[in-house]
Amino acid sequence: MVTGASSGIGAALCRALVTAGGSVALVARRREALDAVAATLPAGRVATFVCDVRDATAVAATVTSVRARFGRLDLLVNNAGIGRYRPFLETGPEDLSAVLETNLLGAWHFTQAVLPEMLAARHGHVVNVASISSRIGSRNHTAYCASKFALAGLSESLEYELAGTGVGLTLVNPGIIATAFFDHESFAGFPSGARARAIPPERVADAVVRAIERGASEITIPRHYALGTFFKTIAPGLFRRLMQHQT
Ligand code: NAI
Repeated sequence: MVTGASSGIGAALCRALVTAGGSVALVARRREALDAVAATLPAGRVATFVCDVRDATAVAATVTSVRARFGRLDLLVNNAGIGRYRPFLETGPEDLSAVLETNLLGAWHFTQAVLPEMLAARHGHVVNVASISSRIGSRNHTAYCASKFALAGLSESLEYELAGTGVGLTLVNPGIIATAFFDHESFAGFPSGARARAIPPERVADAVVRAIERGASEITIPRHYALGTFFKTIAPGLFRRLMQHQT
């Protein structure tokens, strides 16, 4: 089951999972967009489910429907997410709640809904698509980084709880990916140089499939972005001085 499957990384991941032999439940809010992605995949192997991940009741109902359709749930990918690119003082309560409820609570609700069955079966895997913004802060990204740092904290803590249960967890930290994520009006002033470095969502999808297969705890795509996290850990003062000069 992949949330945020109607676009970008989620849609690419559904394709990669089907290619890897899986049957996939595509979850997102927009029926037409979901059906358009599903139409590009083999009909017997996919089904679409309209659900707003912010709505815990709808999430529980969706998990019940997915089980009824597929019989069993081996993998949950919490991928649905949104960003807002605004200075802190211009980030209002509506922006904050939209970002936190989608990026953090959505993953929380879905994971709580699927884990009891996975734990009973001693089999399953949860993937949380966070961001390099779960490890490194950046200006105009306070709400987004708050949500993704929180998702990284949730993921690390839950991974320790899951040790020895047969259920795995992978945290995925993409860098800048060419998707509709940047279509929101708040990204109008996002640095064009950074956008020019964007990589295709298929690269994230392929890396996620490999990470699931080897049970990786955390991956960063492209990999060299992880050097930033390493540098921040070993030289935090110098790292912050350099980041203050970033636009
Ligand atoms: P996208 O905008 O192409 O896809 C986002 C998906 O999430 C869409 O299917 C959308 O309908 C769905 N979604 C949003 N709110 C939802 C809600 N309340 N309920 C159900 N579905 C909802 O963007 P992209 O890039 O594919 O984003 C996927 C994930 O990757 C997000 O969590 C994002 O934060 C993360 N990410 C994206 C990066 C990028 O540069 N594009 C970089 C790092 C992380």
